[in-house]
Amino acid sequence: MKKIVIIAGLLACSSMAWAGADSVHSLRGDKPLDSASIAVPDKQWQDGEGKIQRNYAQQPPLVPHDIEDFSVNRDGNDCLSCHNWDSTVEGATKVGTSHFENRNNEALAKISPRRYFCTQCHVPQKNTKPLVFNSFKSLSEE
Ligand code: HEC
Ligand code: HEC
Repeated sequence: MKKIVIIAGLLACSSMAWAGADSVHSLRGDKPLDSASIAVPDKQWQDGEGKIQRNYAQQPPLVPHDIEDFSVNRDGNDCLSCHNWDSTVEGATKVGTSHFENRNNEALAKISPRRYFCTQCHVPQKNTKPLVFNSFKSLSEE
């Protein structure tokens, strides 16, 4: 009897997983993969229009310039040539001390490995239709 109950339970679980997979929607919509190339128009970064206002205290500031020519890889980080704490490039905000701490909040001499790949958190902007609707409101707006 026990065995039958277990088998019935397993069947129920697997059919639930199947139903879950059905309800996952891709950004691509119903288009098959081979016809789904999304045309990306010319980039319209906000270059030259100054810094972008932050929406809440903890926000990683958005990048107000093109980053196409800058690379970040194991050999080097172009962003740091302008944004590091000792850089003298005029107008380039220096990375804060939070970027020089390890996970135990201990100070480091070099940028923390957790903050090395800048574009994980800092992204340039483009004036385009959002792919996904976003109803984000900062705490101060609520
Ligand atoms: C050649 C120098 C240079 C390089 C390289 C560079 N930046 Fe910048 N960055 C600037 C300057 C200058 C500003 C300020 C722009 C302004 O005020 O219009 C800026 C602004 C920013 C800001 C906004 C800061 C704020 O206070 O709002 C972020 C974030 C940023 N850059 C990230 C990056 C990232 C990430 C990279 C690498 C992919 C990078 N930058 C590479 C010069 C540079
Ligand atoms: C894990 C996410 C993350 C990564 C990776 C990261 N940052 Fe940030 N950054 C933040 C957050 C959050 C803030 C705002 C709070 C703060 O200053 O820590 C910030 C702030 C900044 C600021 C503004 C500092 C100020 O005092 O106004 C600059 C400039 C910046 N980051 C540049 C960079 C650069 C360059 C890199 C890569 C070397 C980088 N960040 C990597 C999350 C990140």
